Amino acid sequence: MDKKPDLLPEILLLKQEEVIQAGLLDMSLILEATEHTFKMLGEGNVIQPAKIFLPMPDFDHWKSYGMSMPAYVGGENEVVGFKWAAEAVDNVKMYKVPYGLDVVLLSDPKTMMPKAIMDGTIITAMRTAAAAGVVAKYNARKDSKVAALIGAGVIGRTMIMSQAAAVPSLEEIRIVDLDLAKAEALAAEFAEGGLYKVAPKVVPMSSVEEAVTGADLIVTETTARSTFIKKDWLKANCTCIQMESYSFDDEIMLAADHIVLDSFEQISHLDSPVRRLSAKGLLAQAQCVEIKDVVTGKAPGRTSDDQFVFCETMGMGCVDIACANMLYLRAKEMGIGTKWTMWDNPIWT
Ligand SMILES: NC(=O)c1ccc[n+]([C@@H]2O[C@H](COP(=O)([O-])OP(=O)(O)OC[C@H]3O[C@@H](n4cnc5c(N)ncnc54)[C@H](O)[C@@H]3O)[C@@H](O)[C@H]2O)c1
Repeated sequence: MDKKPDLLPEILLLKQEEVIQAGLLDMSLILEATEHTFKMLGEGNVIQPAKIFLPMPDFDHWKSYGMSMPAYVGGENEVVGFKWAAEAVDNVKMYKVPYGLDVVLLSDPKTMMPKAIMDGTIITAMRTAAAAGVVAKYNARKDSKVAALIGAGVIGRTMIMSQAAAVPSLEEIRIVDLDLAKAEALAAEFAEGGLYKVAPKVVPMSSVEEAVTGADLIVTETTARSTFIKKDWLKANCTCIQMESYSFDDEIMLAADHIVLDSFEQISHLDSPVRRLSAKGLLAQAQCVEIKDVVTGKAPGRTSDDQFVFCETMGMGCVDIACANMLYLRAKEMGIGTKWTMWDNPIWT
């Protein structure tokens, strides 16, 4: 009789509902995991090659794209994996189909046996907002009272959660969308008796200019394809955090006293102000600091209340992989998910 293989590729399949059951919607958990991962990156415990961006039909006119985001994250729960991040412009015309769609695959770094395949769509929304939360924690003024969040989509919702948790001085969060009904619906989720609780008052708006005027903190998570926020609308010492490529006019970054990025290298591979300004010779890596160095104390965040701080974060696979692994371990402990073995007895080894 055939001897059994010493090791089998046993995969836990986790659908969105199960990843949520494992704790995904707990923003404090995701904020903690995100900051910890930035620290691991700063301490050299992460291996993270550049993303591979596959735009269709081409780089300048993409209607959809897939992006491979591989990372190894060390430490006591070391893991390797990648997120297949994807977006499709026309999805929003359909009922209950998200603009962003993501899948995560996790493997054991020693044997490379795959161990989990899971929905990464809400992981992306939570970790994206958490990244902006950690950036705000180190770069928003400590007396920030008003935040303007631009884009009331999937990430707009998680951004309300993360900014309320990361900047405890906030009294008002303005949620803004071209489509006022979307902003109003989101604000209602955070109102008295709504689905989620946050301390600041959440106010829906449709005028971006009105919303950013007087705001101490501005975070953008829109699907805009041309810039629309002007420098003279902004408070002189505000903090801006752009989570995509096209909300703030590019020159606004150059006017900042301090520029904070998640990763110069990772952002430079994508259509972004960093790429556009570097190509024109207007921005060099030395003008920017990275969040991994800010959280480990190797570089400063905001150092005075007078500074105008501009931050850009377009996402790093290491945060997806670390958050996904934490949720996988919790799911395993809770006994949820569907087990699937990639083979019983491999034909050739
Ligand atoms: N930085 C990261 O790590 C990261 C990760 C995932 C997604 N993103 C980006 O975040 C953005 C939002 O993603 P989503 O899944 O929430 O999309 P979504 O389609 O759910 O929501 C986007 C919202 O932006 C609004 N919008 C578009 N242009 C606007 C404008 N000029 N002014 C005000 N509102 C405007 C739309 O009406 C829509 O409600 C996308 O650009 C996406 O690429 C960033």
